[in-house]
Amino acid sequence: MKSYDIAIIPGDGVGNEVADEAVKILQASAQKYGFGIKTESFEWGCDYYLKNGKMMPDDVLETLEDFDALFLGCVGDVNKVPDHISLILILSIRKGFDQYINLRPIKLYPGIDTPIKGASPETVDMVVVRENTEGEYSGTGGFFKMGTPDAVATQTAIFSQKGCERVMRYAFDLARDRKKLGNSPAGMVTNCTKSNALNYSMVFWDRVYNQVAQDYPDIKTDMALVDALTMWMVKNPEYFDVIVASNLFGDIITDLGAMLQGGMGFAAGGNINPEKEYPSMFEPIHGSAPKYEGKGIVNPIATIESIRMMLNHLGETEASRDVEAAISEILAAGIVKTRDMGGNHSTSEMGDAVRNVILGI
Ligand code: IPM
Ligand code: MN
Repeated sequence: MKSYDIAIIPGDGVGNEVADEAVKILQASAQKYGFGIKTESFEWGCDYYLKNGKMMPDDVLETLEDFDALFLGCVGDVNKVPDHISLILILSIRKGFDQYINLRPIKLYPGIDTPIKGASPETVDMVVVRENTEGEYSGTGGFFKMGTPDAVATQTAIFSQKGCERVMRYAFDLARDRKKLGNSPAGMVTNCTKSNALNYSMVFWDRVYNQVAQDYPDIKTDMALVDALTMWMVKNPEYFDVIVASNLFGDIITDLGAMLQGGMGFAAGGNINPEKEYPSMFEPIHGSAPKYEGKGIVNPIATIESIRMMLNHLGETEASRDVEAAISEILAAGIVKTRDMGGNHSTSEMGDAVRNVILGI
């Protein structure tokens, strides 16, 4: 029997609660589709920092490298550790495992309210392919003359030919797959850029986009300056198919995207190393919401959606589609609703509902 080793990193705040739902759905899928799941949990995060002076042990990559996939709950609690320190946990895994794609589907499930008038599951169905290891998040820069009136900070964005090219290729390949599957008959990759103002980095980014596009004559090209893109995503979500964006722009537009799809309770992401040289990491993209910790009220759908993405990445495509169908069924029925949806069902009741559909009970 095929079996997968999955590392679970609950993180901070509501991380433990959503991680329980992740495991629940993994186990249900494994039971139904006849594969094994072994999970191991790692208690890293802000509490670990308070005890050990670091977010995770130094050998974190060695500890995780043999797992088939990783689930990350959510990280950060500003009352315990400043955000620019707590994010080291997530960023060092993204970079260390060369998870150069951050894949963030923006799709509206049936029955979900969205602030966008007239939006439907047919009109909100796009994917953001975010570069995930370099760009504005390269972490290079420094302080100069700190503590003096002449203090200076620099933060350098790094755009490499290799880094840009591989994310563009991934986006075009994805558009091709979506076109084949009929998800988007158009087959289009929108280049999210800002080359009118960023005259080196984004001019370079556009250049690589145009080079890669040559290899995909069957896919439409399109470009939007990131500021205008935020406007178009709200005004005409149906226009978009695949959007390729740099690390920071992708970060920003996917929070906007989360609102299109009904809120942070529905938005998931995969930090993917497409070559599978290293494990990929799946997460809900919401924060750790420390004020809700232990209350069991957050919506686990984003987490369950991230497990759907994990199963797909592992090659369990049938199980993945099944999770998607179960989420759709529960949300469309509108009986089980967490607080963000205007109901009062708990995190685990929502998870149970999806699991029961998967298992047919
Ligand atoms: C995200 C988050 C992270 C990011 C933070 C926690 C570093 O906002 O995954 O979108 O900026 O990438
Ligand atoms: Mn973000």
